[in-house]
Amino acid sequence: MNSMNKSGNITFNEKKKTVRAPLNRTITLSDSEREKYQAKLLKINNIVSVNEILNKIINQDIFYVIDFLPSNFVDLLFVDPPYNLTKNFNSLSFKQVSVSKYMEWMDSWLKKMVRLLKPTASIYICGDWRSSAAIHLVCEKYFVVRNRITFEREKGRGAKKDWKNNSEDIWFCTVSNKYTFNAEAVKLKRRVLAPYREKGIPKDWKEEDNGKYRLTYPSNIWTDITIPFWSMPENTPHPTQKPEKLLAKIILASSNEGDLIFDPFSGVGTTGVVAKKLKRNFVMVEIDKEYCLYAQKRLEMAEKDPTIQGYCDGVFWERNTLKDMKNRSNRKINIDNELPLLFHDKRKKNEK
Ligand SMILES: C[S@@+](CC[C@H](N)C(=O)[O-])C[C@H]1O[C@@H](n2cnc3c(N)ncnc32)[C@H](O)[C@@H]1O
Repeated sequence: MNSMNKSGNITFNEKKKTVRAPLNRTITLSDSEREKYQAKLLKINNIVSVNEILNKIINQDIFYVIDFLPSNFVDLLFVDPPYNLTKNFNSLSFKQVSVSKYMEWMDSWLKKMVRLLKPTASIYICGDWRSSAAIHLVCEKYFVVRNRITFEREKGRGAKKDWKNNSEDIWFCTVSNKYTFNAEAVKLKRRVLAPYREKGIPKDWKEEDNGKYRLTYPSNIWTDITIPFWSMPENTPHPTQKPEKLLAKIILASSNEGDLIFDPFSGVGTTGVVAKKLKRNFVMVEIDKEYCLYAQKRLEMAEKDPTIQGYCDGVFWERNTLKDMKNRSNRKINIDNELPLLFHDKRKKNEK
């Protein structure tokens, strides 16, 4: 049987040949790009100032660099650590452990991050159901735990002997009761299925050229997220890359332009890329050089194309609304960025 991997390469088993699928937009790195981007990565071995690390990727072990970082400089901490799963990240392997062992590991880095945070900072920590209990308990030691977002992670095939694992959690905490939350900046534009009128006037919705829509405040269940895959232009070979749309919601809600966002397990740099697109600053730390190089390339790409798939005209759109998004938008949508989404949805329907 032939198989397709996360990078959109098809392996033909009989011929043992791998080819790039048509419409594959996974980001790649040439030798000259590797050289160029490597020169931009930072290594630190002493205490540093904010200016020395501002908008940079530190390519080192977070456990080594954490004590060199400044105090009180972070407005928003986004942490997407290795989950409590057996998983390979290029050069690193993680093994699933007990909940208490995962708590111990998490506590070992989180307690050191408290010093970096401003008193008004917000903290978001990602995990799956297996890591979630540990995250809650460790966060409670240091922060005000405010909420848990659950997002639908529609990917992969069903499991035969268990419920398909189709969701992930993001824990939302703050250092104090004084924090930024821009609810207006993260509204969701939804199609109204049962439009209700009061005395003939639409109640809480608007008739637009392409349908009936309602703008709603976001809840803690997100069903409009697409996990990056091979035909999306933000896709890389990283096995657990977060979608730009997900980071956009967090960054818009919990920071303001010019704020600084810190990501200590930054992978292929989604946090920094979205921070840059939304005019925020960032500092990222990632141990794996290959992932840092992809992140650096994505930061360069963000200069030419600051669009974020699924976010347009200051609102987040449901999945499968490209046509309406295109027609309604005040600004030009990069159709190239959106087309793969349609293609993917078609493919998923065919699989059923
Ligand atoms: C879940 S992934 C983060 C993915 C990221 N959010 C993105 O969108 O690309 C976790 C990352 O942590 C990195 N990592 C693991 N241990 C680390 C350490 N001690 N210091 C720095 N990075 C580490 C892994 O290489 C992996 O890329």
